[in-house]
Amino acid sequence: MSVINSKFQELFGAAPEVVAVAPGRVNLVGEHVDFLDGFVLPFAIKDVTTAAISRNSDSVIRVASMQRDGEIFEIPVAELEPLTGEPWTRYPIGVVWSLGIKSGLNILIDGQVPLGAGLSSSAALESSVATALNHLFDLKITKPNLSLAAQKAENVYVGMPCGIMDQSVSIMANEGFALLLDCRDLSTQDIEFDIEPVGLELLVIDTQVHHALVDGGYAERRASCEKAVSVLGITSLRDISVEDFVARKSELDPVTYIRAFHAVTEMRRVLDGVAALKANDFETFGKIVTECHQSLRDNYTVSCPELDVAADTALKYGSLGSRMIGGGYGGSAISLNKKSDTEKIKVEIRKAFEANGFIAPRFFTSLPSAGARVLN
Ligand code: GLA
Repeated sequence: MSVINSKFQELFGAAPEVVAVAPGRVNLVGEHVDFLDGFVLPFAIKDVTTAAISRNSDSVIRVASMQRDGEIFEIPVAELEPLTGEPWTRYPIGVVWSLGIKSGLNILIDGQVPLGAGLSSSAALESSVATALNHLFDLKITKPNLSLAAQKAENVYVGMPCGIMDQSVSIMANEGFALLLDCRDLSTQDIEFDIEPVGLELLVIDTQVHHALVDGGYAERRASCEKAVSVLGITSLRDISVEDFVARKSELDPVTYIRAFHAVTEMRRVLDGVAALKANDFETFGKIVTECHQSLRDNYTVSCPELDVAADTALKYGSLGSRMIGGGYGGSAISLNKKSDTEKIKVEIRKAFEANGFIAPRFFTSLPSAGARVLN
């Protein structure tokens, strides 16, 4: 019996009715544009969160985690209320709430996506629970709608105004491919990211920092982009070309302009990046990845010294492209480099972090992996 099954049995007295897994993600290009109808190009990593779930007849939701041995959080189904409960339990319970489940449930979570590393451990948690419940109650919810339900849990129940990228890739990714997601209608295209045969590797550099700015900064920048849309009288930043946007610079205040400039150019970078990948041109793709970092650092201003040192050092030691990923102010950076350069890049980043007085980084690698699935 798997470890999660025997723990479930021990905590709740019977085997789970359903077990589902969902992965974290890295994002290749398309940062801070998912809430603006943009395109994004993430892929699912191999690390997953597992959710084991059974119905109970007491109308109570019980949630436990393998990472918090034995502690069971309980809330009656009738009392599910956004923003209540211990913070980590809001993610799984928020999904129960957003799917409108009225039955009592026993839920055990095993989270193997590194926490706080900007690899979307929250979306993996939401998506594993959503996938398990979709199966358990035979809800027949499509993958895009399941992603939306998981996002609603995070937006409303947890109170984080995130976009749709992380949940979508966790639910819709396919092994071997990056996911080109159109955040306007959630249509997707699998983009081959077959780096192994050409001797490349995607190194993830977890800075192990999480600066306090993160929550307010995210919402504030999102609001600037929404303000640009309203001042310019357009339906979306998606619907204006870089050239037309630049021509209307004088209509926007400087902060609104520069943040929205990031978004408009980032959407173009995603499409250019996809074209480069389709042509197997990893050199050009790498340059686009690096341009994305520069824009996040200089225009959108969500980078931090640790992320800049990670990206700059990777580039100095042979990386084809390196950048921060995710929300910013900490978390992880990625580097697309020759496999033979990975060790040297890691050593030099470690040294640079030490020289700057930063805490030691962690490193991971991952190939594009499968999205959420039911195991039993
Ligand atoms: C976080 C959010 C995503 C997305 C990224 C930035 O990961 O959860 O929706 O906005 O930041 O691209």
